[in-house]
Amino acid sequence: MTDALPPHFKPLAGEPDPRAQAIGVFDSGVGGLSVLLALRKELPLERFVYIADSGHAPYGERHDAHVIDRSRAIARYLVAHHRVKALVVACNTATAAAIRLLRQDFPDIPIIGIEPALKPAAALSKTRRIGVMATRGTLQSEKFSALLASLKDQATFILQPCDGLASAIERSDAIKTIASCAYSTRAMGQFGSDPDNIDTLVLGCTHYPFASDELRTLVGDHVTFVECGTPVARQARRLLAANNWLMQEELPGVEPVEPAHPIYFGTTGNAQVLQAAALRWLKLDIDAHSLKIN
Ligand code: DGL
Repeated sequence: MTDALPPHFKPLAGEPDPRAQAIGVFDSGVGGLSVLLALRKELPLERFVYIADSGHAPYGERHDAHVIDRSRAIARYLVAHHRVKALVVACNTATAAAIRLLRQDFPDIPIIGIEPALKPAAALSKTRRIGVMATRGTLQSEKFSALLASLKDQATFILQPCDGLASAIERSDAIKTIASCAYSTRAMGQFGSDPDNIDTLVLGCTHYPFASDELRTLVGDHVTFVECGTPVARQARRLLAANNWLMQEELPGVEPVEPAHPIYFGTTGNAQVLQAAALRWLKLDIDAHSLKIN
């Protein structure tokens, strides 16, 4: 943990007012920016600290122990250095492996996780055939198995571990992204609106919304994509409101006004990668801080 905090994020002297503190958001890399986008829409007056653990990614193809260690280290960093008032685990893989332990470690702040949106997909699908793209780690987790078991009577879920896709998106490697999406969609079967087609596709990793255009080209216009950024942002609002910890009265759906509430961006990987991703996906020209978080 080497980086000095910029002045506007220095904790206030004495006990800080939780309402004025930032919300911490982290992912194994740039994927959580898809969740940050939804959070900023839902909570335009809040401050955020975003950490990309790109130096230790991908999470989805590693052992649980690695994902747990990294998630705990980042949560500790966010609480100790930024005194965050809430933590959003903007990563399906980390949520599956570590959220229970994070809630034990930090019982005093709301911790919001993300999981593949199987339930909303089951409600939307007409053919009751649903594709689920996620990391191997997420699909093999107990948490996911329990979710799947609870919905097994409602639809057929075709599970597709997408090795390498998050890394390709992370590196902005367009050729590998298209190849990986093509492989995965072909492996899942026929997409479309006919009775035996997959008509709904769950993007069960926060990196995958950034491959939506490639996926759309492959599966056609009649397939509904389901992701979780907006429900996660709403849940964050609900929990903060219940504690009376919202910055002030927020208007949901109002676009954030630049540069009212700067976001602190940190990465354990290459700062330029995070900067380029923030510019591309969030339209934000940022300075990302290089961090060592152990
Ligand atoms: N973005 C992460 C998720 O939502 C995983 C990417 C990775 O494998 O590191 O699962």
